[in-house]
Amino acid sequence: MSQVTPYNTEAGKKKEVEDMFDNIAPKYDLLNHVLSMKIDVLWRNTLVKWMNKDQPKLVLDVATGTGDLAIAVQKGTGAKVVGLDLSQQMLNVGIDKIKKLKLDAEISMEKGDAENLPFDDNKFDAVSVAFGVRNFENLEKGLSELRRVVKENASVYILEFSKVEGFLGPFYMFYFKNILPQIGKLVSKDNRAYTYLPDSVNAFPFGEKMKNILLKTGFQKVEYKKLSLGIATIYKATK
Ligand SMILES: C[S@@+](CC[C@H](N)C(=O)[O-])C[C@H]1O[C@@H](n2cnc3c(N)ncnc32)[C@H](O)[C@@H]1O
Repeated sequence: MSQVTPYNTEAGKKKEVEDMFDNIAPKYDLLNHVLSMKIDVLWRNTLVKWMNKDQPKLVLDVATGTGDLAIAVQKGTGAKVVGLDLSQQMLNVGIDKIKKLKLDAEISMEKGDAENLPFDDNKFDAVSVAFGVRNFENLEKGLSELRRVVKENASVYILEFSKVEGFLGPFYMFYFKNILPQIGKLVSKDNRAYTYLPDSVNAFPFGEKMKNILLKTGFQKVEYKKLSLGIATIYKATK
């Protein structure tokens, strides 16, 4: 798999990803909702409905960013949620949001690395990651950490962009590669962040390929659901 990084410097993917999200944090939520026409909200809710069947009491949301999935999981399942992210600026936006919603007793946010999780084995009833795994520096290492901290027979839920196949593919790709980066650049003032988005999606495995990577990581069962013609996919990987 080719390593697509935000700024193509010598700093390494992890440092560049942290810097990029620190840069775009103030505009992240706005851009997310505008660029996806709020469909991202529906996708997170679909993940939560799937997870809710497990009736989790304690959930880890990795790459939580500004906390939208952590909040949706808490509201949808009633679980206590720990949100973890590399970027302190993203977390700060999330912490403010959680305080405003008076959910700070239910959701805690902490800085940390998905590839080296600061938690014991078999701690969580479920683990979620939305639009995070594509940004990991070492995908297999990150996935095996997610597997390590979830309980036996419990599941990791991953929401990630995939590729639209069929005749609509080229139309969506035109928007994704040409229009979206222009709007992203204008609003976020970061020249690369919204070019990195389609580039990293193009280089990232999806569908059967991603399923096989998850199985290779040691998960015993992997199922997935395509969303919105395949713009995104949710994977449920069971330990
Ligand atoms: C596109 S945002 C997604 C945020 C949120 N999950 C959502 O649905 O809006 C990706 C997040 O992944 C975080 N991230 C990337 N690599 C990470 C890692 N190794 N450990 C923890 N967080 C990471 C970034 O800092 C960023 O906040």
